Amino acid sequence: MIKLRKASSQFAATRARSCYNNKTMFSLYIFVGTKPLIAYVTGEPADGNYFSSFACFTCHQPHSNGNFQLRVRNAVVLEDGTLFDRGPANTCATCHHSRSDVSEEVVDDVELDSHYGPHHSNQADMIIGTNAYEYDGYQYTNSAHALAPEACVHCHMSASLHESVGGHSWNMRNEEHDWENIIGCNAAECHDGEITTLDTEAEDDFDGDGETEGIQTEIHGLLEELTELLLAANLIEEEIEEGDTAYAPVEERVVSTADSAGAVYNWAFVEEDRSDGVHNTNYTVGLLKSSINFLETGDPNGAPAATKPSSIRKLVSAH
Ligand code: HEC
Ligand code: HEC
Ligand code: HEC
Repeated sequence: MIKLRKASSQFAATRARSCYNNKTMFSLYIFVGTKPLIAYVTGEPADGNYFSSFACFTCHQPHSNGNFQLRVRNAVVLEDGTLFDRGPANTCATCHHSRSDVSEEVVDDVELDSHYGPHHSNQADMIIGTNAYEYDGYQYTNSAHALAPEACVHCHMSASLHESVGGHSWNMRNEEHDWENIIGCNAAECHDGEITTLDTEAEDDFDGDGETEGIQTEIHGLLEELTELLLAANLIEEEIEEGDTAYAPVEERVVSTADSAGAVYNWAFVEEDRSDGVHNTNYTVGLLKSSINFLETGDPNGAPAATKPSSIRKLVSAH
């Protein structure tokens, strides 16, 4: 159970995105002129530029229901037409899904801009493994998390150790105190007490650095590799943001083949999911590996070892 008094006072804080920290809740307002209107989760995509914060009735509907039932219980149709239906997590998916349909975005001769990609918060798509660029001939698979019945709610809202993680904070981690919310992971029907960290040991050395590390570390390794290849192919470029190095697709760059644009799309898809592979490890690894292989060899499955000396990385001419 949540502590309502604490939750409400947390909700009172309305902050811009850059001010979020692990202790504040956010409320979602849509501004009309200078007046904020509380936006409700209706099952329809929200319109408006100023999504910064939200409140209890964004998700709950006490007056018409007579209890604290969620507004949205129906399945959510993702932009590529796939149904997301995970009970209370449908509420989350109304906001946390990709705003584009990959089949419209990844086409031959597409012109990139710095926002090219699924447009933030594509977690519902990632969880069920859909709506990223899937190369012909590559076998993509999903991890068990794709089937978790309450999806987002099971992990992000599992009984909270502290108000800053779990429950209505939805946080999995409090960096300041180095707390991780692993209660949901360790449920008897899931990992049954075996998880000690979110960066839990991967099944394989996905990034091929000779060591099997944590899943999130392996995914970082693959992302770095893909970032280098995309930079070398002039598909993304470096940007300095508040002193930090960030990367973005190259403005007005026309990409002749969908397969090359797809590598940029998949890179953004994994970056913007922000779970570093936890949401759906197999799908994440598949998207990154097929994109890396394609950029290195022209084949999403990679060329046979004999024709691919590891010391020489050749970029294909397809871009
Ligand atoms: C982002 C959406 C969202 C917001 C905002 C939100 N809740 Fe919830 N709330 C949920 C979900 C999802 C559940 C789990 C429902 C379920 O499991 O069926 C839940 C469950 C609850 C429950 C039932 C807890 C239980 O153990 O059964 C209460 C009470 C509650 N919320 C109160 C609040 C209050 C008060 C606020 C504002 C301070 C609030 N909620 C804001 C999504 C939200
Ligand atoms: C009304 C739209 C909306 C709903 C419903 C919603 N979220 Fe969010 N959520 C947002 C926005 C906007 C942000 C801030 C932008 C971002 O970080 O992507 C956010 C951020 C988050 C974050 C990151 C917080 C941080 O510290 O950056 C998590 C985790 C999260 N939401 C989980 C959930 C879960 C789980 C649910 C369902 C119980 C849910 N959200 C429902 C809109 C929503
Ligand atoms: C299997 C458990 C699990 C499920 C299911 C799950 N998440 Fe996550 N989520 C995580 C973990 C673990 C992280 C990474 C947290 C970290 O490393 O800080 C994460 C990260 C996130 C983030 C980025 C948070 C940040 O601070 O940057 C958001 C947003 C998010 N999840 C939303 C969702 C939504 C929405 C759903 C449902 C569509 C969902 N998650 C389903 C475990 C889960």
